[in-house]
Amino acid sequence: MRRIALFGGSFDPIHTDHVNIIKACRDDLHFDEVWIVPAFVNPFKNISTSSVAQRLAMIEMAIKDLPYARISQFEISKQKSSYTYDTILHFKRHYPDDQFTFIMGSDQLDNFESWNFFDELIAAIDFKIFKRSDQYNHAIVAKYQLEVFDFENNYLSSTKIRNLESLDLQIKPVNDYINNNLMYLYERLETKMDEKRYYHSLNVGQMALELAQLNGVDLNKAMIAGTLHDVAKRWPVEKMRSYLAKYASDLLTEPEPIWHSFVGALHIKHDWLFDDEEIYSAIFKHTVGDKIMSPLDMIVFCADKISLERNYPGVQEFRTLVKADLRLGFKELLRNQVEVAAKKHGQDAIGSQIMTTYQHWIKEVEHE
Ligand SMILES: [Fe+2]
Ligand SMILES: [Fe+2]
Repeated sequence: MRRIALFGGSFDPIHTDHVNIIKACRDDLHFDEVWIVPAFVNPFKNISTSSVAQRLAMIEMAIKDLPYARISQFEISKQKSSYTYDTILHFKRHYPDDQFTFIMGSDQLDNFESWNFFDELIAAIDFKIFKRSDQYNHAIVAKYQLEVFDFENNYLSSTKIRNLESLDLQIKPVNDYINNNLMYLYERLETKMDEKRYYHSLNVGQMALELAQLNGVDLNKAMIAGTLHDVAKRWPVEKMRSYLAKYASDLLTEPEPIWHSFVGALHIKHDWLFDDEEIYSAIFKHTVGDKIMSPLDMIVFCADKISLERNYPGVQEFRTLVKADLRLGFKELLRNQVEVAAKKHGQDAIGSQIMTTYQHWIKEVEHE
């Protein structure tokens, strides 16, 4: 007879505290195995709910080194939400020689009695509770004589992870997977900007992808850098100022309208924990460029100015040019940007960075 802990939840995404609970099941409660039972979640219910395949992939990464843990697709494969009671009956019926216990977080205690078939459920299986926070429903614990356990608690939640909180405590490969697949974009991007800017961001991602295809550049990097290029665009100026003061105070002398490109790059590095220098560089350089511009840098710079929703006079000609010749298109967009800015704000307000770029790419070439 095996002693098996059943651990249910939506795991969207799985995080370090889930894994620590699984470890405690084995190390402290001495279960032989832990079966993770991800719930079916309607992917159309929430705008950024992950796919079943994505949730499973993340769980697999998280339990890779835990031979006693495995995934049961029982609930997921039903393709609709199911009752815990049915799940428990299923396992008891199919594995009559094993002994099952249901693991839950103390945050679920408040609604515990309203679970479907509660009376049958509590009679059918033993529950063990892990203390997710110091405040929990003691009345329910006492009423049903439940056992409450501690574990190595980082006070994480899937909601926090979706909202970019405490990612330094998250399982690294899972965080990388989320970043590389641009998951939870609604929480991470849309809620931090207005709808117009959000659709601009998605369009720049698409345009960057198209340009990457045309130029043999890494598609995923182009898509990520394009989509996230304006990630800091709607930050209040004071927040950007203190962020720059913390990480790159020399950039405070640049004009405020371009701060968001530096802050955006720093933000995805320090808060999202992207560790890709090429993506960082493309976001960093997207408004004012640089003397050194990789093809990816040029792609994001251009995609920002010719994305689908842009409709200024001449944009169609720029689109055609950039798609035909990235380097030439970049130079023409740069020239146009500097000339328009000089006319609008005067030569002095342009900022040193873009003038450096301009001198390098336009003037020097003209003097040759
Ligand atoms: Fe921008
Ligand atoms: Fe933009």
